[in-house]
Amino acid sequence: MHIISIISLKGGVAKTTTAVNMAYILAVVHKKRVLVVDNDKQGNASKTFKRYDTGDRDTVARMMLERSPDLARIIRKTDYEGIDIITANMDLLEANLRTVVDTGRQQQTRFKKALAPVAGDYDFCIIDNAPDINMSIINALVASDDVIIPVFMDQYSFDGLDILSGQIEQIREDFNENLRIAGCLVTQYQNNDVNNQGIGFLMARGIKVFGQRIRRTERKVNESTIAGLPLALYSSRCGAAQDYKKFVVEYLGGINHADA
Ligand SMILES: Nc1ncnc2c1ncn2[C@@H]1O[C@H](COP(=O)(O)OP(=O)(O)OP(=O)(O)O)[C@@H](O)[C@H]1O
Ligand SMILES: [Mg+2]
Repeated sequence: MHIISIISLKGGVAKTTTAVNMAYILAVVHKKRVLVVDNDKQGNASKTFKRYDTGDRDTVARMMLERSPDLARIIRKTDYEGIDIITANMDLLEANLRTVVDTGRQQQTRFKKALAPVAGDYDFCIIDNAPDINMSIINALVASDDVIIPVFMDQYSFDGLDILSGQIEQIREDFNENLRIAGCLVTQYQNNDVNNQGIGFLMARGIKVFGQRIRRTERKVNESTIAGLPLALYSSRCGAAQDYKKFVVEYLGGINHADA
């Protein structure tokens, strides 16, 4: 099971849109077995897969709190063949706070240990993270092989990128030497100076940027969010859906290459 963290300290850069659409495309187009982990107390990925429940006690929070959580109880089927999900709700807030003060057991490796028993059941695990660096996000990074950083080119595009890179570097050093930044994914791309200069700025700093960008596709993306459907299903021919499909092909090419 190849584990991917979709992460950025910035809010609203399309982390959840990317996680949900990658999962859908990997499962439906590429016939991969995918586990989505919602690692955001907002539960937006859970909502898109129609599995969000404020009263649910069998969520990702258990992976933080329990020594050997029963994943069969936590993993939910979705309406899509090949996609299962571990959901999140506000329980994750308390789970994070409790983990930080629970120094009796290692705090950073809980996801890694919890996910190990299902490694043979899935080809990919996609973790959708909150715009933060908290204990459950550190857990996601310790468990991950790849990091994908969505970037939305506005005037604050690079806020937090240095802090995030520093954290990733530290986790690589302390816990997970396999962790790599697969790349930044430009989302909501518009062909204008701000976008093109921003991409140039990232590349000049040696940050890998995926060649495939996701076009800003205002109406369809918002409609798909309201409909609670992955964009690639709601409007498979719209610009952003097409771009996500090509992006997944590019990403898969990169990991095959890295594995070879
Ligand atoms: N390619 C796109 N074109 C137009 N709108 C988009 C595109 N991608 C995402 N959006 C919109 O941007 C908003 C933020 O997207 P999303 O929720 O995926 O971001 P996020 O990074 O997960 O946010 P948060 O930090 O709150 O978790 C949503 O309203 C979504 O519909
Ligand atoms: Mg989100």
